[in-house]
Amino acid sequence: MTQAESTATAALPELAAPRPWWRDAVVYQVYVRSFADANGDGVGDLAGVRANLPYLALLGIDALWFNPWYPSPMADTGYDIADYRAIDPAFGTLEEAEQLIAEARALGMRTIVDIVPNHVSNEHPWFRDALASAPGSPERARFWFREGRGENGELPPNDWQSIFGGSAWTRTEDGGEWYLHLFAPEQPDLNWEHEEVWTEHEDVLRFWFDRGAAGVRIDSAALLVKDASLAEPGDGDHPFEDRDELHDIYRRWRAIANGYTEPRVLVGEIWLPDPVRLARYLRQDELHTAFNFDFLACPWDAQRMRTSIQSALDVHEPVDAPSTWVLSNHDVTRPVTRYGREDTSFAFKAKRENTPTDLARGRRRARAAALLAMALPGSMYVYQGEELGLPEVEDIPPDRKQDPMWRRSGGVDPGRDGCRTPMPWTGEQPPFGFSPDGAARSWLDQPADWAPLTVAAQQGDPGSMLSLYREGLRLRRSVPWSGDAITWLPTDDDVLAFARGDRFVCLVNFGPEPVVVPDGAEVLIASNDLEGGALQQDTTVWLRLTDHDRNWATDRSRKEGR
Ligand code: GLC
Repeated sequence: MTQAESTATAALPELAAPRPWWRDAVVYQVYVRSFADANGDGVGDLAGVRANLPYLALLGIDALWFNPWYPSPMADTGYDIADYRAIDPAFGTLEEAEQLIAEARALGMRTIVDIVPNHVSNEHPWFRDALASAPGSPERARFWFREGRGENGELPPNDWQSIFGGSAWTRTEDGGEWYLHLFAPEQPDLNWEHEEVWTEHEDVLRFWFDRGAAGVRIDSAALLVKDASLAEPGDGDHPFEDRDELHDIYRRWRAIANGYTEPRVLVGEIWLPDPVRLARYLRQDELHTAFNFDFLACPWDAQRMRTSIQSALDVHEPVDAPSTWVLSNHDVTRPVTRYGREDTSFAFKAKRENTPTDLARGRRRARAAALLAMALPGSMYVYQGEELGLPEVEDIPPDRKQDPMWRRSGGVDPGRDGCRTPMPWTGEQPPFGFSPDGAARSWLDQPADWAPLTVAAQQGDPGSMLSLYREGLRLRRSVPWSGDAITWLPTDDDVLAFARGDRFVCLVNFGPEPVVVPDGAEVLIASNDLEGGALQQDTTVWLRLTDHDRNWATDRSRKEGR
């Protein structure tokens, strides 16, 4: 650069780049099967979503993430995809999906589609071809086919366990080779050492980006690459989790996403215990964001929450990626039920059914958790029904359960059907407006006592969960939060308080001692009514500090006369 050029550059006024939408977006997860059934077959569909777009717009969200809507035999309710470029007939057509994407966008909501790169359906043409081809054929090379151990190959090639329970290997029906499936046998794993697997997925990304999708949610994003030696998990690198080669895949995806005038967004589903490892996927040339499952799984406890929040912020800061705040999704126990238990921690593979829960307490905590999540810097996910405070349905009879996790674990794992029950919209009895009158029985039954939880019952009630979500999300958009940093304020151990900028404070009381709102603070919203100006247990408030120079003083410091 010459002297003249550098002077010219320096003289330009500093134009701040507009903040990318995804950095603090609120993303609503639509589980299409259970959202709204327009054609009366008992299964939700795209027409049902389109009819209810105004409901979503009113909720105040920025984007919709759709669970897989592609043609699928539904062995894992759509996470077994037979065709990545079409829509399952039970949900609608590709044309309807395109219309939906455009209509949502016209209402201010972007669309994120779910991409499943780790495995395909056993009815995907590639896998059918593989089964029809001989061992060692190019068709089989796209998957992980191996000979079995034992004299006649009657034992699986190694002892890897499926995440859904049982061996991760299934032998072909002719008693020949075995193939790998980290999930159900109907979900054979792809071999990401194969160039065609790369190019095919890159093409699928372009297919949806070209149709207006603003981004993709990447299923099982840390599992794609396997150690070809099939080593057992040990002290070194895990043979199929979080392997370094994954980063090359996502760098190529990022380049594709960046190639659009409005760059597309990559969101990773990455369950890793180490947040430092998670953040490696969020380096500037890789994914944009990843679900923060540590926050989701964190017990309802002030200090544990504080540690989880701070560690998320700490690991995201160096890679300049926003954290996400997630309380629920289609794989985990609903927060109202989880937080009502004695032990409020959560583990994906240790779900507990019919552990005593106090739903009133759980609801109160879920409300407080929602306002906490909304106040944090970064983007937030809301799973359909969370805004209605739906509890987990824990009494689904065995013959009505659908989830392969339940079957494959021999009934040990309750499965995930309990958080996938159809949305209640209106009326006094099932299907609560989910399906039109005279429709077929819904694919999962709703509890008969959900009338008070319907959208219609909640929307006129200022004390409802729905009103809390609407008002909280409205305020979140209007509060001028400054920056991505939070400042923790001194409090009792059972209380969390943090400021964003010098005017806004979020205060959460986890403990039994009431906490008095400090002088000079205006309450913007509270998850439960304050009593005598104090927050009772399990309550969150957002405060605006009206006196600029005041020092933060909690109830305790006041009580102690400081
Ligand atoms: C992800 C999905 C889950 C699915 C699994 C296999 O974890 O969220 O629902 O069963 O991947 O695709």
